[in-house]
Amino acid sequence: MAVILDGKLTSQKVREEIKKEVDLIKEGVRRPGLAVIIVGDDPASHVYVRNKKKGCEEVGFVSREYALPENTSEEELISLVKTLNSDEEIDGILVQLPLPRHLDDKKVIEAIDPSKDVDAFSYHNVGRITVGDYDFLPCTPAGVMELLSNYNIDVAGKNAVVIGRSNIVGKPQALLLLQANATVTVAHSRTQNLKEVTRQADILVVAIGKAKFVTADMVKEGAVVIDVGMDRDENGKLCGDVDFESVKEKASYITPVPGGVGPMTITELLKNTLTAYKRHINEK
Ligand code: GUN
Repeated sequence: MAVILDGKLTSQKVREEIKKEVDLIKEGVRRPGLAVIIVGDDPASHVYVRNKKKGCEEVGFVSREYALPENTSEEELISLVKTLNSDEEIDGILVQLPLPRHLDDKKVIEAIDPSKDVDAFSYHNVGRITVGDYDFLPCTPAGVMELLSNYNIDVAGKNAVVIGRSNIVGKPQALLLLQANATVTVAHSRTQNLKEVTRQADILVVAIGKAKFVTADMVKEGAVVIDVGMDRDENGKLCGDVDFESVKEKASYITPVPGGVGPMTITELLKNTLTAYKRHINEK
């Protein structure tokens, strides 16, 4: 039976450290500030945004939410981003994805000042991460690495397999595992003999958005299994991309859903916002 990688507990530890730093900010000096923009009524996105706001309040950050209607134009959205770029109270700007179809997310992300791009989604920040010279790491992959490190799971020299190749998780996750000296394979919907590939994994990270897709027969005995999925099962209950009940019997470590990677993602966002704040304060 696997050890559970507890993202809630690990997050709490990191958030307490962030809060300690915020508590040391002198009277009269501003606190770190995060602006979150959400467009439209997607219920899941609204839940994520609410949790980001709660995370900010917990550590003493200023948080501002901009909830814009579905029919917001690209010009209006970009104009808000530009206003926030020059807002001295704001260190991080996050535009919740996905955006409604009529909006071009690349254009919107590129409008964010790279020093405030706490998602690390802009070309500038993606490029910096690729060469290993960065201020921010993308929140979900960074949260996975922090969770591994918190449980002293050494990545160097291990076979790591990432299933999924999204720009938000799969690709940057592969890069971070590579930077930690793993031997990395990225599998995806066109991968042949997927089971043969995943059974080679000492560390398996799953980010495909398919409920309980990874079953015990796809996992090597003693593997570390990280589930980035947030899905619903046949009864509408929250679950991950991994069939937790069967895989936990075979893995050495496993993340639950909820309570695994999810809380870590928001914690990394708070870390990035604090980093941006320190840069902005020191530049003044
Ligand atoms: N939608 C799903 N995950 C994320 C994320 O990490 N950042 C943003 N901005 N949108 C998301």
